[in-house]
Amino acid sequence: MARHFLDLSDAGGDAIAAMLGDALDRKAARVGAPKGLPDHDTPLHGRVLAMIFEKNSTRTRVSFDIAMRQLGGSAIIMEAGTMQLGRGETVADTARVLSRMVDAIMIRTDDHGKAEELAHHATVPVINGLTDRSHPCQVMADLLTLIERGFALPGLQLAWLGDGNNVLNSLVEAAGLMKFTVRVAGPDGYEPDEGFVGRARQSGGEVRLTRNPREAVMGAQAVVTDCWVSMGQAGGEAQVAAMRPYQVDEALMGAAAREAVFLHCLPAHRGEEVTDAVIDSPRSAVWDEAENRIHAQKSVLRWVFGQL
Ligand code: CP
Ligand code: NVA
Repeated sequence: MARHFLDLSDAGGDAIAAMLGDALDRKAARVGAPKGLPDHDTPLHGRVLAMIFEKNSTRTRVSFDIAMRQLGGSAIIMEAGTMQLGRGETVADTARVLSRMVDAIMIRTDDHGKAEELAHHATVPVINGLTDRSHPCQVMADLLTLIERGFALPGLQLAWLGDGNNVLNSLVEAAGLMKFTVRVAGPDGYEPDEGFVGRARQSGGEVRLTRNPREAVMGAQAVVTDCWVSMGQAGGEAQVAAMRPYQVDEALMGAAAREAVFLHCLPAHRGEEVTDAVIDSPRSAVWDEAENRIHAQKSVLRWVFGQL
């Protein structure tokens, strides 16, 4: 059976810790190397990853491509609209065909069910590159960035501001698996998925929901936000208006712990969910976080191939 990475819980806490350790080691081993130069051991030599994009992407597309090159393999990038998938070939048949041609598949889709269906019919690993429900690869990079900044995950206090979206769902899942606290402040009706919250609480994470941004941020070591309206959300002006009290500005960062860092998966809507003064400040770790998509995903790739 192929190992899929549709959500963090597919791997579990121990495997996530192993992946993060591997990512730190591999990142340290190639400091200063040209970005396309393969790692000395090329652990995925000869392997090919096919990527299916139903939605826009900059970081996910480039970081997976570079990750495969550094691991000694290669990647094929496809827009769903120009595939036969885009004119009615079924997800199941696409899974069967791609499984004969490539060694792993990554999919970015609006419908998490499609990623699950792809995994069900594929005989090679399937990786979630963002769905409407979750974004586990992003959160692997976030966890790596926090560890690099000197934070231990167990007991970490993380605050999330704004929309209860796919990235937050995966952060909440991570809180359960790695035993940390997520305090969420957002407007009524925009909470994270109840299933993720319930499972995280059951497995030892702490998840608190509030309407008060200062309450969420007070003493937090990481302050995290994302766009107010995600790709594919109907959103509109009403949603943006509801989010306004949750903008991360310098005053709000001032309520966080002295050593607090600011994270954002990007792309950012400067002047909406975050001010320039915060995202461009020394407390902002967003560029490390973006680069870490490469390093974290190399370890995810090694994990789906049974190397970790
Ligand atoms: N953070 C993230 O997934 O970025 P892209 O949409 O550019 O891939
Ligand atoms: N929540 C955002 C993340 C983008 C990387 C979205 O789904 O659009």
